[in-house]
Amino acid sequence: MMPKAVLLTLLSVLNTNGQEATMIPDPLTALEGRPVTTPEAWRKDRRPEILELFRACEYGRTPRDPFTMTYEVFDEDPKALGGKAIRRQVAIHLGRNGKNLRLDLLLFLPPSAEGKAVPVFTLLNFSGNHTVHADPAIAFPRGLVPKQFQGGRGAKASRFPVEAILARGYGLATAFCGDIDPDFDDGFKNGAHALFDSPGDRPDDAWGTIGAWAWGLSRILDYLVTDPQVDAERVAVLGHSRLGKTALWAGAQDERFSMVISNNSGSGGAALARNKQGERIKDGIEQFPYWYCAHYRNYVNREDELPMDQHMLLALMAPRPVYVASATEDTWADPEGEFLSCVHAGPVYRLFGLDGVGAAELPPPDSPLHRGMIGYHLRTGKHDLTAYDWEQYMDFAELHWR
Ligand code: GCU
Repeated sequence: MMPKAVLLTLLSVLNTNGQEATMIPDPLTALEGRPVTTPEAWRKDRRPEILELFRACEYGRTPRDPFTMTYEVFDEDPKALGGKAIRRQVAIHLGRNGKNLRLDLLLFLPPSAEGKAVPVFTLLNFSGNHTVHADPAIAFPRGLVPKQFQGGRGAKASRFPVEAILARGYGLATAFCGDIDPDFDDGFKNGAHALFDSPGDRPDDAWGTIGAWAWGLSRILDYLVTDPQVDAERVAVLGHSRLGKTALWAGAQDERFSMVISNNSGSGGAALARNKQGERIKDGIEQFPYWYCAHYRNYVNREDELPMDQHMLLALMAPRPVYVASATEDTWADPEGEFLSCVHAGPVYRLFGLDGVGAAELPPPDSPLHRGMIGYHLRTGKHDLTAYDWEQYMDFAELHWR
């Protein structure tokens, strides 16, 4: 179900060597050709139009049907991690049509949360909450963890520098993505899909797994805004790789997330699909068709026909701060395509009188750009989420959440 009249206004884009590389849709020209010149017109007309393009063509439509939700705090320790943390584990119970889904949220807050609500970074994890930190009180996941992601307590701790996050006064909220929806092709029989999807043929724009994970992030936020120790105005959504694509889609749909961070999200995430190096839509569809809606398959080897591109996903965050991070050896994700997306989301921020990424050329490795509302860095090294990446996100948050 594509919008009927799709008239693309294309902008010519230079690659970072200054050569003309490709043409991308103009975020500030509406589909029927009208220029968008005010923040009001962006909010009223163009933003909904772009959101609809991502629903119809890429991630699918998030169901709006009612569901039930209850919270159960099943673990609470105000002196966890040797007194450095408040630890809380919350079962979020979601229900619909007699079916239930349980999502276990792990929340670490700094001791300062005893006196005032603190800002929190929210992210899904690939391997279960117990892999985030060696703390023996963290519950194991109930569902299946895919073999390639399995690990023992603290196995993924390098991606979650809990003590460093708490020491800077931030909280960390995380849940296992498999609690929300499994990361394999299950015919959409389990997880959030089982709650909402009707049996039979799936429409072309039915939501995929990224859509389900993004929905789960919003349910986590539903809980967080009720927790008096969490500053509901300062909750960031972050994600690495496939979960970075998910964080962007969650942040685009749910404007309660006041900052959105994509770590090495690549194809279907921050990187422009047009002229993409490394992974293309074809690769994503061959390996992970269930992440996207069926309509997205129409753009395999036909990226130029997309009515939108990923810079417009970043633009949906405006005027909120958004951050994109790449890594030098992560050519599959395409650092240049991720950076160009930041550059071309810039005009929408400028419409709000704000600066975008503040550079036209890919910065050298380990030279973060933090001044504008679009943050960016190219870290030396591999596809990963590291302590260095976290330091940048916290610096950026400190600047923009002041
Ligand atoms: C694969 C996939 C990427 C994805 C990554 C990940 O490499 O092609 O699109 O980002 O897995 O999630 O680790």
